[in-house]
Amino acid sequence: MDTLLTTSPAKAAEIIQRGGTVAFPTETVYGLGANVFDVVAIEKIFAAKQRPPDNPLIAHVGSVERMRVLTVGVTEDAELLVARFFPGPLTIVLKKSARVPAIATGGLDTIGIRMPRHQLAREFLAKCGEPIVAPSANLSGRPSPTTWRAVVEDLGGRIDCILQGDDAEIGLESTVVDCTGDVPIVLRMGAVSIEELRHVVPATRKSTFAELGQGRSPGLRHRHYSPNSRVVLIAPVDEVAVPEHGAFIGLHDRSGEFRQKLICASVDEYAHSVFEFFREADRQGVTTVYCETVSETGIGAALMDRLRRAAED
Ligand code: TXA
Ligand code: MG
Repeated sequence: MDTLLTTSPAKAAEIIQRGGTVAFPTETVYGLGANVFDVVAIEKIFAAKQRPPDNPLIAHVGSVERMRVLTVGVTEDAELLVARFFPGPLTIVLKKSARVPAIATGGLDTIGIRMPRHQLAREFLAKCGEPIVAPSANLSGRPSPTTWRAVVEDLGGRIDCILQGDDAEIGLESTVVDCTGDVPIVLRMGAVSIEELRHVVPATRKSTFAELGQGRSPGLRHRHYSPNSRVVLIAPVDEVAVPEHGAFIGLHDRSGEFRQKLICASVDEYAHSVFEFFREADRQGVTTVYCETVSETGIGAALMDRLRRAAED
């Protein structure tokens, strides 16, 4: 199929209304969207990404009223987090309403809700009218796309449209918080840190390994964020013997002949650049990407989470 490239949110929304799939920019990463109530369009998302059917999708809304249509029993904690962090890089998991088709949530009785703050995303959502379910717009298992070109690379010819925007500001996916229980539980680290969440709801805690295994967040069971090249984590003080086709990304410069090297001025810049760095490593035929570890505060915790997953076999 031909994939239409456009900068017009109105054109992109028309394609959604006709039952199509549209990749669109957000402040975290690019998403691949379909109307939450359109089962056939949602099937196209799973097919295009080759995504396992048990991996639930996040519903993107332009307003809090739209969130209420998709959920039942919005907890007090959820209300507090919504008031503080929407719109922004936070996804809140709540009990889903009967109107949400099972395919959207991988068969779960809960649904993740997010309101992006990205201007073009907001215009697109407003024009769509209905909420838009969207996973990251990459082939399943590949690094999330932070540019529209990366979406073309993975999904060109497999989806109906790409709404072209700027490169993603944050570069890592949203923080996912389960708000269905007594206390909020962080299922996936992201740009909103656990410290910030605790500022609003002090009892917020990280999920235990066992909880993740029990299927609270099925997406985290699957292989994730990986380039084809091998990813190796190294501490700032570690010495490495540079292989012939090696790459390095981190905060501190290193000597040695790397085929590809990026020294980031801050942890924010590291987070912003890492997925595109992985993709470039694959384009360049890099065999090993060395990633310097960072301290796990603020977005550093989310970055380390993605680096560890990328380094898993
Ligand atoms: O920043 C983001 O979140 C991006 C942009 C496009 O919004 N989206 C994204 O979607 O990263 P995806 O599908 O690649 O990752 C969604 C994550 C998965 O780990 C999934 O398991 C979890 O959120 N998730 C979604 N709905 C859930 C639910 N009802 N219960 C538990 N986890 C859920
Ligand atoms: Mg994803």
